[in-house]
Amino acid sequence: MINDITPLQIVSELNKYIIGQDNAKKAVAIALRNRIRRQKLPPELIDEVAPKNIIMIGPTGVGKTEIVKRLSKLVKAPFLKVEATKFTEVGYVGRDVESIIRDLTEVGVQLVRKEWASKVADKAKQLVDEKIIDYLFPVSNKRKEQKTNILDGSFYSGIEEEEEEEEKKESFDILTKKDEREERFERTRKKFKDKLEKSELENRLIEIEVEENIQPTVEVFSNSGIEGMGINFKDILGRMFPQKRKKQKVTIAEARKILLYTETQKLIDMDEVIRDAMDKVENLGIVFIDEIDKIATQEKSYGPDVSRGGVQRDILPIIEGSTVMTKYGAVKTDHILFIAAGAFTTSKPSDLIPELQGRFPIRVELNILNKEDLKRILTEPCNSLIKQYVALLATEGLKIEITDDAIDEIAEISFLVNEQTENIGARRLYTILEKLLEDISFNAPSFKKKQFTIDKRYVKKKLQSIVKNEDLSRYIL
Ligand SMILES: Nc1ncnc2c1ncn2[C@@H]1O[C@H](COP(=O)(O)OP(=O)(O)OP(=O)(O)O)[C@@H](O)[C@H]1O
Ligand SMILES: [Mg+2]
Repeated sequence: MINDITPLQIVSELNKYIIGQDNAKKAVAIALRNRIRRQKLPPELIDEVAPKNIIMIGPTGVGKTEIVKRLSKLVKAPFLKVEATKFTEVGYVGRDVESIIRDLTEVGVQLVRKEWASKVADKAKQLVDEKIIDYLFPVSNKRKEQKTNILDGSFYSGIEEEEEEEEKKESFDILTKKDEREERFERTRKKFKDKLEKSELENRLIEIEVEENIQPTVEVFSNSGIEGMGINFKDILGRMFPQKRKKQKVTIAEARKILLYTETQKLIDMDEVIRDAMDKVENLGIVFIDEIDKIATQEKSYGPDVSRGGVQRDILPIIEGSTVMTKYGAVKTDHILFIAAGAFTTSKPSDLIPELQGRFPIRVELNILNKEDLKRILTEPCNSLIKQYVALLATEGLKIEITDDAIDEIAEISFLVNEQTENIGARRLYTILEKLLEDISFNAPSFKKKQFTIDKRYVKKKLQSIVKNEDLSRYIL
């Protein structure tokens, strides 16, 4: 299954969140499209086409991470973000670079499993309902006394009376009694099933059996991953010994969640999921290496520090193409796309070891944000900061209006502070807005007036004295 998104579509999707930085957007869009093209090549060519890895260069807070973060949500490909500074050379305490591929594989497996799970979701839900009914009315008890596993007395509410009625009518014919009892058992089961389907019993307690170990999952956009060898010892033990089961009292709503995992697992063929996932990881996987400039260095470092050149050399084989063992099997890294990013303020891309430079043929520079960019960032993205604040305060019934010239002033001040102190790009908007709205935010719950207009004058009043004093702004903004 290939995701057929065009470069233009990718860029216009990114435009919803990121202002400007057109070169970077274009570069990632092309790189993605190239992999789709590659998949359609004849077999003799498919292995020849190497991914066009990208380095994004730009000062802090101009959208490098944001672009890739949004990209990852767009493409249905295994995606992992790592920070170059988290890794240490082989032999040192810390994470070795091969864990990148192990984590990416885990992400891939979870991704594909989720896809497959959604295909069998209806069937799984049905099985879960049946399972819950079985827990409540074990079929094995059908012929014996009508023992149920209902823990909660209120369970019978609504059903109870009808049952009593029927009991009164019950015939004393001993021969038919057994059949009748059976029939009644089925009827009650059916009634509960209907209620279950209508979600009327969600808060009732039942006792279910659960397996003690549940598969770990990795969050797609996180720094932590699966540590160490990437081998789950519980998994291995689980295969060697019968799964340990324990009884647990939970609400039906919780039981659903627990049972859904096991029932889904039964419906999907994990071997095939893994095969599909491995294929996706090898051919469509994307690794984002952030802070790559932090491992670039001219001087050789001595002493107890982990050598940064050493980390680069360790990363190299993975980017050049090698085979990494994971718990799901061997993964070839030749066609994984790597996107690196760094501010490169104290170092330059040419400070990276030459072999590594050659592995990132595409370099895109991101621009410093000017006042106009900042203004657009404040308002245009669908999740813009202004929209966020307005929505947050609206939850208190406060209607905030920020006039256009106020926004202009905020952008102006942000730009100025970036120039005067340190340029932290769009991140400056966070500190400025927070300061600007501090009083309103604090007093919002007790405001009598439910409408508030922030105009240029208000912005000036709140911020100008701080901006004028450089030392003060260094600390406050
Ligand atoms: N061009 C932009 N358009 C919209 N929002 C932006 C833009 N640039 C930065 N931002 C916002 O500023 C914040 C910081 O951006 P981001 O994390 O992408 O910085 P970065 O370039 O990766 O910086 P660093 O080098 O410090 O990692 C994010 O919340 C992001 O939404
Ligand atoms: Mg970043």
